[in-house]
Amino acid sequence: MKPEAKPDTEREKGPETERENRPGAAAVSLTINGRKVKARKGDTVLEAARDAGIEIPTLCHHEALVPTGSCRLCVVEVTQAGRTRTMASCVTPVADGMKVATDTARIKSIRRTVVALLEARCPDIDIIKKLARKVGLKKNPFPRDDSDCFLCGMCVRACHEIVGVGAIGIANRGPDSEVMPPFSLESSVCIGCGTCAAICPARTFTLEKVFRRRSMHVTGGVNSVFRCKVCESHYTGA
Ligand code: SF4
Ligand code: FES
Repeated sequence: MKPEAKPDTEREKGPETERENRPGAAAVSLTINGRKVKARKGDTVLEAARDAGIEIPTLCHHEALVPTGSCRLCVVEVTQAGRTRTMASCVTPVADGMKVATDTARIKSIRRTVVALLEARCPDIDIIKKLARKVGLKKNPFPRDDSDCFLCGMCVRACHEIVGVGAIGIANRGPDSEVMPPFSLESSVCIGCGTCAAICPARTFTLEKVFRRRSMHVTGGVNSVFRCKVCESHYTGA
């Protein structure tokens, strides 16, 4: 007997996001760049702005990941209770009566400095070059490096939050920080899915396939996995 087809509406509906399930749709009123905007309780300023068609640049933000506010590119001015502060919009929740400005002279200047620091660290990364052009960065006052990772942490968060294994992490501190498998040794929990490489906005990872082995190279090391000799479909750690 043929299984009963689901109604179109149910089949066509994609998986619900955590955000779609938040209660209190359009429960919060705020102003963004002088425009009155409605948002859900629990939304971030970035989500409210994007829903209203207002662009805020981001680098370490991805809808599938918990925001961490690490790159500071999405900085905006937030005025509440008569006090104005600069905040990362991806981690700032909306509130009733909040006033947000996304493109004041001060914000543009902070964003230019953020991009200058990123460009000094990763001068050859396409997404950073594009941002530098966008913010009108002409001369960079910061000393130049040649890293190909700007430490947004998205690969690490994706491995932990989406794949659920934690095969890579950020080691060391400050400018010496690097993405690597734990202790720079090949991880025994990596499943070779390549989610880290797919999500990296800098395209820092190199995926290599040699016979039964699949390797993910990143700045601080490599994770290699091997195709299962029995089922030929699973990969197993080192
Ligand atoms: S490797 Fe890519 S995703 Fe990971 S921290 Fe560096 S730039 Fe971000
Ligand atoms: S996108 Fe908000 S801090 Fe990076």
